[in-house]
Parts: sequence; C-alpha cells; structure tokens
Amino acid sequence: MNRTWSIAVATALVTATVVEGVHYLLAKRDNRIKSVGKLTKSVENSNAEYPEELIEEQLARNYAFLGKDGVEKFRSQNIIVVGAGGVGSWAATMLVRSGVGKIRIIDFDQVTLSSLNRHAVANLADVGTPKVECLKSHLEKIAPWVEIDVKNQLWNKSSADQLMFGDDFNPSYIVDCIDNIDTKVDLLAFCHEHKLPVISSGGAACKSDPSRINIGDISKTEEDPLTRSVRIRLKKKGIVTNIPTVFSAEKPDPRKAQLLPVSPEEIAKGKVEELATLQRFRVRILPVLGTMPGMYGLSIATYIITSVAGYPIEPIEGKNRYKIYDGIFQSLAGQQSRIGQLDQRVPIAMGDVSYILEEVFHGKSPISNYSTKLTLSRWDPSKDISTQNVVVMTKEEQANHEKKVLKGGAKLEEVYSKEVLELVESRFADDRYWSQFR
Ligand SMILES: *[C@@H]1O[C@H](CO)[C@@H](O)[C@H](O)[C@H]1NC(C)=O
Ligand SMILES: *[C@@H]1O[C@H](CO)[C@@H](O)[C@H](O)[C@H]1NC(C)=O
Repeated sequence: MNRTWSIAVATALVTATVVEGVHYLLAKRDNRIKSVGKLTKSVENSNAEYPEELIEEQLARNYAFLGKDGVEKFRSQNIIVVGAGGVGSWAATMLVRSGVGKIRIIDFDQVTLSSLNRHAVANLADVGTPKVECLKSHLEKIAPWVEIDVKNQLWNKSSADQLMFGDDFNPSYIVDCIDNIDTKVDLLAFCHEHKLPVISSGGAACKSDPSRINIGDISKTEEDPLTRSVRIRLKKKGIVTNIPTVFSAEKPDPRKAQLLPVSPEEIAKGKVEELATLQRFRVRILPVLGTMPGMYGLSIATYIITSVAGYPIEPIEGKNRYKIYDGIFQSLAGQQSRIGQLDQRVPIAMGDVSYILEEVFHGKSPISNYSTKLTLSRWDPSKDISTQNVVVMTKEEQANHEKKVLKGGAKLEEVYSKEVLELVESRFADDRYWSQFR
C-alpha cells in the first residue's frame, strides 16, 4: 500500500469510528436515534437536516459549563469577524467550534506561506487561496450545522453597509481583527454609529509573555502602540470608551524583539504613514511569535462566549489607573501652590493626564526611565503650563526640579544632560503630532 493510500484508509477508519462512537453514545442515551446509517448520511451531507442531538453532544462540555440558556444565547448570535489572519482565524475557529449561530468572515487577502506560523487551520495546500475560503472549507468540516458566510473583499467605509448588513445578515457582534490603523478606526467608528457591540484586537507584534495578555476598555490599554494610535484617532471622533480590547501590557525591552525604525530609504519613498501602523516604525515584516495572535483570538472568542451567555467575567486591567491619574494630577496642582503661583488652577484637564502619561511620556520619566511614584511638573519656568510644557517625573525628581529650576532659577541645560533635554523635546514633538488627532 502506498503512503497516500494508507493515510486515506486510516482517515476513513478514524472518521467512521468517531462518527459511530458518537452515534453509539447518542443511541444509548436517546432511543429516538435508531439508525446509525441515517446519522452518518446527515454528517456527510450538510444539506440534510442535522440532528439536534448530535449538535448538543458536540457542545456537551459547553452546555455543562454555561448551562442550556447560556449556550442557546450564544447559538443565536450572528457574528462578523473582520480580518482573517493570525488573530481572526483563531477567533473564528473557536466561535464555530463553540456553536455560534451564523458567522460572516471578511478579508480580501490570501494565505501566505509565512502566515502558517500563526494560522488556526491553514495548511500548505491553502497557500495562495483566499483566507476566507480557506477558513470556510476547514470550519465546515468541524461544524456543518453552523452557517458560515464569507466575503473575500476589502472592508472599507464605502463597502461597509453591504458587507455588514447585506443578505439580511443582521449582526449581533463584531470582531475587529484588522491590523491597519485607518481601517480599524473606520470599523470601530462604524460599530459605534450603528450601536453594534464590538471587540477589538490590539497588536501582537513583539509580544511574548502570555501572562500579560489583558482584556480592557480601549481607554485603558497599555504598552500597545496600535491601540494607542487607534484610541487617539477615535477620540477625535468623540469615541473614547466602550470598546473591549485584547492587548498585552508587556513592556518592550532592549533584549526582546523590537519594531525597527523606518529606514531612510523608506522615508525617501514617501508614504511611510500609509505603510506603517505606527509613526516612525517600519512594519513590512513585524516580528510576530506565532502563538501570540492565537492567544488574542482565543481571548476574544472566550470574551464573546462568556459575555453573550451571561457568564460572570470581570477583566482586571485598568481598575486602579484612575487613582494613579488623579494622584499625578494633584501633584501638579500641589507644585503650583508650592512655587507660589497666585493662580493655582491648572490649565490641564484631569482627562489629559492619562494622555500625557501614557501616550506622550510612555508611562515613565524621561530623566530616569522610572515608572513608579510619578508626578507632573512644569518644565520651563518661563513658559505657561500646557501639554507642551509639563514633564512626567518621579517625586524626587520633581522636588529637585522645583528646588533648582523653578525656584532656584538654574537653566535647564545646567541641570539636565543633553540626552535628557533631547528626549523631553522629542516627547513634546510627539504631543504636537498626536494633537492633530485629538
Ligand atoms: C472598498 O472596497 C471595495 C471592495 O470591498 C472596493 O471595490 C473599493 O475599491 C474600495 N474602496 C476604496 C476607497 O478603497
Ligand atoms: C532611558 O531610555 C532611553 C531609551 O528609551 C535611553 O536612551 C536613555 O539612555 C535611558 N535613560 C536612562 C537614564 O537610563
């Protein structure tokens, strides 16, 4: 027997055994099921009516976990997954395995050889075929009773209405697995406008620590440059909260994979902004450890299944952040009074503190790179307080800055190294850049 032939026989035997095993179990449990032959036919032919008993057996563990009500709620969902890559393929696969009612998967792209390190189902034969067709053909074999509808198209604002609502789809939940900033912002804004529940995926590039993966509101993500850009652009459209987001709070480290700065050649070619998901980064080939997008996808599927089923979950990230922001805000007001400012009002809103800390200063002091006991300090005493003239620093650094610069009259150049001064200037430059979108 040649190899292909023996694999085919083995597969047939395994399939038959599994199918018969299921039938045997069901037949034993429920004497309404009498004919193994009839059931086998149903399994093979998805057009035939699929026995509910078989579906319930396939989902037995989920029924045991979520209860009948919970699973029924999930089974009545119509979910759209936009983006069928490393994150989307896992999310879609687990939604189907968990028995979602209907799923629509949207992606214009094709399976590449280099995406096999992170894809949920694609194999070598799928390379070069549309990502959505690949998912459909594999997922149909897992749960022929799930309605899988695919759109091999680019999601954009002009195609949105047709892609989201066409063919009477009537979506109940949207999954954003897009990695392009502009499209991501458009999709999230579209969901906001149409009051569609949506969960968004942050960036998995350069991440490797499973213990740092979180689900939190988009207003509270950390260490995720993709979500950061999206958040800032959404803010400009007046959308600030109510988007659960999967992200990793893992901090970058010089010993870890990093995004490479844009090369001068790329800049010369122009269009860096279009190419890049991030300001000043080249993203043609992102370092992505294959396991991470998968975990994001699984986190997304788990979040949807549990929240739709009414199962209690309470993401932990971000809960204490507001206390931290308030402390930092008060530290600036305190300084105003200490340096004898008559008008102690601070012309920076409480809501700006998270922006200044997380987006502009990357959560740390430019003087020491320390990220605990942080305060805000006026920087140049000859200028008014604004986002262009406050610096995040530690409590000790603030005291030193007050003593020497704000009260003592020393010049900034006398107190700080050229490196620190340049870093502060580049943070202010980032603020000017981000301000266009705020
Ligand atoms: C939007 O997507 C559709 C396909 O879904 C495409 O035909 C059209 O050219 C796209 N429009 C823009 C502005 O990219
Ligand atoms: C802080 O980190 C930057 C890189 O982000 C580095 O250039 C600088 O030397 C560091 N400063 C200190 C005091 O370690």
